[in-house]
Amino acid sequence: MSETEKRKIEHIDIAITKEIRGPLTTWLEHVHLIHDAVPEIDFNEIDLSIEFLGKKLKAPIIISGMTGGHKDTAKINEALAEAAEKFGIAIGVGSQRAAIENPELEYTYSIVRERAPSTVVLANIGAAQIVKGYGVDKILKAIDMLKADGIAIHLNPAQESVQPEGEPFYKGFLRRLRDIAESINKPIIIKETGTGLSRESVAKLREIGIRYFDVAGSGGTNWVLIEKYRAHRRGESIKEKIAEDLSIWGIPTAASVIETRYAAPDSFIIGSGGVETGLDVAKIIVLGADMAGIAYPILKAYFADKLDEYLNALIHELRAVLFLTGSKDLNSLIKKPIVITGSLREWMIDRGIDRSLYEHIRMLRRSFGKKDLL
Ligand SMILES: Cc1cc2nc3c(=O)[nH]c(=O)nc-3n(C[C@H](O)[C@H](O)[C@H](O)COP(=O)(O)O)c2cc1C
Repeated sequence: MSETEKRKIEHIDIAITKEIRGPLTTWLEHVHLIHDAVPEIDFNEIDLSIEFLGKKLKAPIIISGMTGGHKDTAKINEALAEAAEKFGIAIGVGSQRAAIENPELEYTYSIVRERAPSTVVLANIGAAQIVKGYGVDKILKAIDMLKADGIAIHLNPAQESVQPEGEPFYKGFLRRLRDIAESINKPIIIKETGTGLSRESVAKLREIGIRYFDVAGSGGTNWVLIEKYRAHRRGESIKEKIAEDLSIWGIPTAASVIETRYAAPDSFIIGSGGVETGLDVAKIIVLGADMAGIAYPILKAYFADKLDEYLNALIHELRAVLFLTGSKDLNSLIKKPIVITGSLREWMIDRGIDRSLYEHIRMLRRSFGKKDLL
């Protein structure tokens, strides 16, 4: 078994046996929606649908990319894909590096398109691979493997910097990414993995033409913490200590959504990192995201044999929040007022995010240049 394959299964093992969230929170607790006691709508008329990459989803949710690349992960991907198809939500796969290195593992990913024939499926490759030389051919191979609607390219500098076998090399990434983006006609989604996107990062990416972002901020799965457990298992005490110190590194999800929307008013934004409930999904959308991404809570529900139960509750709760804010659909939800308190409010002030300009962007975001998104 290759090192990449072994690592894939070890990550899942740690994720389901250890506490992999915290100590940071998402800061969604500082975002407050306003209760409407006279909503003037009926619960069952509420429309949660959204268009994403030319397909209609029944709810604004993506199962964020997690796995594939080891024989035992095929059945996880199969179950997640069946759920995505059934609930009409999008789904991503984990990094496809393992199958690009060893085509015998392709089935652990392609099962997703087989079981989710009609919904949005995203391919996935790491920035580290692009820096190391993956070009258009490998990107197209990853997309073809899944007949994917787009490809997520993930950024994980924090993880790479503490991982025992990490590859913390990002020099030249933007230039290579621009070349790839200019040569393929599929959307590229730039995705963090749990430490968030800042205004500055988004501005650099926008400048080279990227228009899809998945913020994956802090407050959910913490990769530095996962690598801390791995370093401990290997007796690598220095890496373990660094990972312990840096486990508070990152931009909380709510702050990252605001920063990303502020820097990219015209872009499609997935809000993720610690999103777990229907209320979280609603808050993140009002705050500036177009849809929400969820990884770990879905994996946890799968291992508890409660995937359908979890997704049913999630969507019901989201519908309830639309009802309670008097929103008949997502376009009406994003226009609802919010109150921002505590650290998140201080963060905005200190980061020079003008509240009235932000409100303007937040309300009008869907009318900014959508036709340019591809
Ligand atoms: C077990 C596991 C494996 C993951 N593998 C990948 C991956 O291969 N590629 C990727 O882009 N993100 C990966 N992620 C990150 C998630 O897609 C997501 O961005 C992150 O976990 C934050 O969401 P969460 O707090 O809902 O878990 C993984 C997450 C988990 C829990």
